[in-house]
Formats: sequence, C-alpha cells, structure tokens
Amino acid sequence: MMLNFKFFHVVLLMLLFFGKYAMGEKEIQHSKRTYIVHMDKSNMPASFENHLNWYDSSLKSVSDSAEMLYTYKHVAHGFSTRLTAQEADFLAKQPGILFVMPEVKYELHTTRTPEFLGLGRANTILVASDKQSDVIIGVLDTGVWPEHKSFDDTGLGRIPSRWKGQCETGNNFNSSSCNRKLIGARFFSKGYEAAFGPIDEKTESKSPRDDDGHGTHTSTTAGGSVVSGASLFGFASGTARGMAPRARVATYKVCFLGGCFTSDIAAGIDRAIDDGVDVLSMSIGGGSMDYYRDIVAIGAFTATAHGILVSTSAGNGGPSQGSLSNAAPWITTVGAGTIDRDFPAYTSIGNGNRYSGVSLYNGKPFPDSPFPIVYAGNVSDSSSGYLCISGSLNRRKVAGKIVICDRGGNPRVEKGWVVKDAGGIGMILANNEDYGEELVADAHLLPAVALGQKASDALKKYAFSTPNPTAKITFGGTQLGVQPSPVVAAFSSRGPNELTPQILKPDLIAPGVNILAGWTGAVGPTGLDSDPRRVSFNIISGTSMSCPHVSGLAALIKGAHPDWSPAAIKSALMTTAYKTYKNGQTILDIATGRPATPFDYGAGHVDPVAALDPGLVYDASIDDYLSFFCALKYTPAQIKLAARRDFKCDPKKAYRVEDFNYPSFAVPLETASGFGGGSRAPVTVKYSRTVTNVGTAGTYKVSVSSQSPSVKIVVEPQILSFSQLYEKKSYTVTFTSASQPSGTTGFAHLEWSDGKHTVASPIAFSWI
Ligand SMILES: *[C@@H]1O[C@H](CO)[C@@H](O)[C@H](O)[C@H]1NC(C)=O
Ligand SMILES: *[C@@H]1O[C@H](CO)[C@@H](O)[C@H](O)[C@H]1NC(C)=O
Repeated sequence: MMLNFKFFHVVLLMLLFFGKYAMGEKEIQHSKRTYIVHMDKSNMPASFENHLNWYDSSLKSVSDSAEMLYTYKHVAHGFSTRLTAQEADFLAKQPGILFVMPEVKYELHTTRTPEFLGLGRANTILVASDKQSDVIIGVLDTGVWPEHKSFDDTGLGRIPSRWKGQCETGNNFNSSSCNRKLIGARFFSKGYEAAFGPIDEKTESKSPRDDDGHGTHTSTTAGGSVVSGASLFGFASGTARGMAPRARVATYKVCFLGGCFTSDIAAGIDRAIDDGVDVLSMSIGGGSMDYYRDIVAIGAFTATAHGILVSTSAGNGGPSQGSLSNAAPWITTVGAGTIDRDFPAYTSIGNGNRYSGVSLYNGKPFPDSPFPIVYAGNVSDSSSGYLCISGSLNRRKVAGKIVICDRGGNPRVEKGWVVKDAGGIGMILANNEDYGEELVADAHLLPAVALGQKASDALKKYAFSTPNPTAKITFGGTQLGVQPSPVVAAFSSRGPNELTPQILKPDLIAPGVNILAGWTGAVGPTGLDSDPRRVSFNIISGTSMSCPHVSGLAALIKGAHPDWSPAAIKSALMTTAYKTYKNGQTILDIATGRPATPFDYGAGHVDPVAALDPGLVYDASIDDYLSFFCALKYTPAQIKLAARRDFKCDPKKAYRVEDFNYPSFAVPLETASGFGGGSRAPVTVKYSRTVTNVGTAGTYKVSVSSQSPSVKIVVEPQILSFSQLYEKKSYTVTFTSASQPSGTTGFAHLEWSDGKHTVASPIAFSWI
C-alpha cells in the first residue's frame, strides 16, 4: 500500500526487507541503477535492420557491459538497462533517444460487498445473460495463490480464443497452477533483481506465486469465483465472491517483498496488452508527476488505446488535500469508503465507562477481570515508544498489563505483537487527529481493540489521572447494517488534482475498509513473521481494496456492453454513482465527521446496477487525449513519450482542457489579488461536453443544484433530444464567478435526466 505508514502492507514490505534495502542502496552507490530508455522509433536510422539492433547499438555506444533487462513495445518504444549516472547522461544525448528515465520504486496501495453494492439480485440476472466469461481482468500486483478456492473454474467454458497469455512456471508454480478461471500468470522480476540481487527462493518465489497476500486479495476481489462458507476466524462469514465472478483473471506479478519497480511494472503492462486483457487493475502508485514521466500513466495510456480499461487506487495519503496519485484522465482513479459491516470490540475501564472500537482478534478470550492499563509512552525508554515500535517497550513495566499504543509509524498489527512480545496482556490502538474516528479492524495476535480519537483521548485522560487505572477488553463479533455507510475513509487520498486542476479526481469511491477476500498460504493474516496462523480469507483495508472492486465492476459492464470504450465504461460508473444516503444527506467524511465533497469522493460511490444502464455517456477517444496533451502545451517530444506517436498540435486550433470530455467538472477560478492590484471583475469560464446516447431514444433535461451562490452556472442548451443509439449531442456550461479568497472551495451538481436515467456530474470549484 502506498505513501504513508497507515496500512500494514507497505510497512510490512519495508520492515521485513530492510536488510535487502540497504544492500540495494550500497550497490547503487557503487555502480549502476536501472533506467528506462525511451527511443524515438519512428526516426530509426535506415542503416539498422530492426529496432532491436538499433536499441542494442545505442546501448553499446555508452557501455560495453550493459545488458537490456526488458525491451518494451507498447508502454514505451525502448528498453530498460543498468547504467551509471554518467552513462545515462551520455546516452540521453545520443540521437534517437527521447528520454532516459531513472527507475522508480512504487508501492502497493479488502463478503459483504456484492450485497452492499446491490449486486446480490442483479448478479444472478447478469450471469445468465451477459458475456462476463469473455472478459479478462489483468491484475498487476504481488501474484496469486493459485490453489485458492476463489480460482475454482467449475462451470466456466473454454478460455476465449483471442487470449495469448501464459502460465509461466517457476518455483512453486507450474502450468497446472492455471485453469479456466486463472487463465494467465506471469512474473517480472528483472528490475527487482537488478536492484536487490537475485531473489532468495527460500523466502520468496521467483514465480507468479503470491508470498504477500495483497495480490490474491485484489485479484479475488475483482474476479474471484463464488465461495460459500468464507470467513476470517468466523468474522464476516458468508459467501465470498469477486465483483465479476465469471470473468477470467490473469495475474502479472510485478511487486515483490521489497516493492514494485517501474521497469517490471512497464514490462507487466506491456505483456498484459499483448496477451489481450480487457481490464487492468493496478493497486499500485508512485507519486504525482507529469504524465509523460509517469510509467503507470504512460502504460495506462497505451492500454487505453488498446481498448483496455485501467483502474488504479487513488492512494492512502488522505485525509491531506492533494494527496492523489494516478490522476491521468484516461485512468479510473478509485478512492475508498466503508461498508455497512463492522467488527465491534469494547474496553471497559475502572470508572465504569465503556468505549467501543473494532477488532478481528479471535484467540484466547481476555480474562474476565480488569487488568492495569498503561500508556506506551510511559513504559518505554525510547522517544517513539508511544508508537510501540519494535523493541521500544520496557518489559518490566509492561508485563501483565494492557498497553495503549498510538496509531501511525509502524503497522498496526506489529504494535500488537510488540506488546505481546514484551509480556503485555492486551493492547488499545489509539487514534490521534490524523485518523479521527476511522477504525480499521485487524487480526491481532493478542486481545486488542482499535479506538477512535475521542474514545482514545478519554481513555488516556483516565489512565493519566487515576492512581491505579484498569481496563477489560471484550469482543462483539460481526455486526451488519451499520449506518451511516458508506463514509469516506480517512486514508483515502483526496483532491484537488494538483497536476491538472481542471480534471476532478478521484473519479469515484468503492468499498475499501475491512474487506474480506482471498489470502495467500505463505503468511498469516497480519503478514508478520511472528504470525504462525494461516487463513484462506483475510480482512484488510486500503484504496488497494477499492480499486479491484471497480476493476471487477468494469468487467461486468464490459460483459454487458462489449463494444463500449474504456471512457464510456468509466463514464457509466461515474454518472450513476451516488453521493447521498437514502435520507438525502451527503455521504460523510470520517476524517472530519462532516459531509464529504467531490474532492473526497469524486462522482460519488459506485452503484453497479445503475451503471449497467447509464442512459448517456461521456466518451473519449485517443484523439481527445492527444488534444488534451495539446491543451497542456506538451511539446511533440513529450507527446511522443506519453502517447508513443508523432502528433503535432494544430497551431490554429484552440485546445482547452476545459473542453476535454470528462464526466465531471473541476473548475479552478482566479482569485483577485489583494491590495487593489487584481481585477475584481467576475471571472467567466466555459466548459464544453459531448454526451453519447447509449439508451433508448429520449429527451433529457438539465438541472443544476449549487452550494456556491457566488458562481452563476448556465447550461446551453437545456434540453437534449436523442432519436438513435450512439447519437451525440454537445452542450456548454458557463461559470461566472465573483472573486473569493484563495483556498476557498465550492460545489455544485449537474444532472441530465430523461425521467428514467439520471446522468449526474459533480462540479468542484477552487479559487486559486
Ligand atoms: C505441478 O502442480 C501440480 C499441482 O499442484 C502438482 O501435483 C505437480 O507435482 C506439479 N509439478 C511440478 C513439476 O512441480
Ligand atoms: C504519561 O505520559 C503522558 C503523556 O506524555 C503524561 O501526560 C503523563 O504525565 C505520563 N504519566 C506518567 C506517570 O509518567
């Protein structure tokens, strides 16, 4: 998982492999690092027989010893290789070289969800009527546990004949690991091994096998078969199934226990395009860089050009503003919300108060009597002891007590282990203001309960002010029907989109908190070495979990509408998303306890049943994306990098990002500068959009509701009539705004309706 330390995966990866990390760094200093070399293939000198000779000769011109790790044909024209900084500089200056891009390490960003999404009923209908089993979902992740029941292929017919993928073999993985459900499995480790040295096959599989759990979780969420009697230790018990339970799944293992390297990611996307996936699910993210420098964005662009919908996680950098990654407009960027399920646990303290939180602990019950409670910060000799970092607790002061550990810094489950290891009897995981009331349940190794900020503060106050504070911990199993739900998860990365402020991101939210899905047999549910338990389902959280929900739902839509473009499918998911509860109130943000905004949930929470019949879609073609690059004033070289084609923007054409046909509206507005310098006149901006009819003939009327009285919104025309399928109609929206202080935001909502379909778009204003 990505960007921060709130979720156990990233941290797990980093901590377990710290040794390897250090080795990698040393090696880098001594000599070389990996670069992705983008070649200007259309300008290959005629003297070369083929492009591979040319790549090779270019490489040999700077280094006799360098070998190509991969050659790329879709994601880039070019190759990856190990070079010294000097060699890379020199290579970049050679003719025919577009860009020499240093490799970046990316990070990975979880049975109720079908019912929560309203699919319980619809799915039965879908299975009978659609072509879901023709749809192939490619998942770039940590691989799979192929023996998992979610990959049972009972009842699935022949593999689609167009499929060109393979079941690559390696340790613990052979060709019989694949079947008619898991139809492809590949791994890409050259970049990882170039950085860290050869994979130690005693601890990690050099094969598509998942040693981490993350990839099994994401791929079974997207396309897992129906498995009855699924649960984690009895929690969340029920029937588990992926969002598209009859779609085919192909895994591309690009993440290993030390992380995900861009040379491997690029190779994975390259092959997935060749193999013929329809949807690409990537719960991976780096940062937010220009599209032409971001290999995930570039790879996704080519995939989109091949008709593949690319769905990625928004990131776990919330609730900070502008914490998004994967913001390219051709990508479907998914934030995370809660579902209506909870795993309550309680702590009762000496003064009679009881606080409720969550837990997935299932071991020996907590004794039926109170025990002393201490704050980790008071029983540690280390300044970061309050976080319960490994080795930081004083055994003498912890033994036989319940320890309050603050959230953040290291994995939540590790804190529990640290307390247990120091002789503690229980743990309270305390939220601070960064996490607010967001509760994430974990399968702790000792009796533990996660508390929200308010309860945590009250508990600490009690512990600090009472001579002999005591507490008890009890557990409440699984609770369904929790309201309100969904709420936006605190960790879910937020807009505004700092890269292209006119494109609203994230696009939408989907279930990402306490999600049950398949797990690896290689590690326990906490992922810790010290966890000997093995489970076939695990409950985890992150935008990594919401992303494959949308990937699977996109596969459902693709099955129902095989001829829809990726942009049309994304539009259907977005314009039918909901942003209010049944009582009409706006979805809440758990970080603040207040109504969330489009910067938090984009178009809203996914509603797959409605998405199957959106009425109208905002389609976009490759030409539209090229025009988007022109609007960003990209140079021909930058366009070539981002889109791998020669394209010259027409100097006579007025390209505008405001006219890019997106299903939502983000409207950055100028702020009048102070001291009488700036203009106080209202600012007017005009956006244009084109909708395509994918429903029956009909007449749509527009309606706008606004919470921003300072902006006048005019839509022209106000009525759009369609007589045919795929007929297109355009409209404009003019925003006229009085100046507001910089940093002000405002929101509105635009809706086309024919009385049957509601085609809704959020509008987000930001004064900058
Ligand atoms: C391949 O996998 C099957 C099923 O797991 C197993 O029975 C067989 O021994 C494996 N073969 C090899 C060569 O590993
Ligand atoms: C424990 O730590 C808290 C917070 O740092 C502090 O306010 C309190 O005085 C400490 N208690 C003891 C007994 O040291």
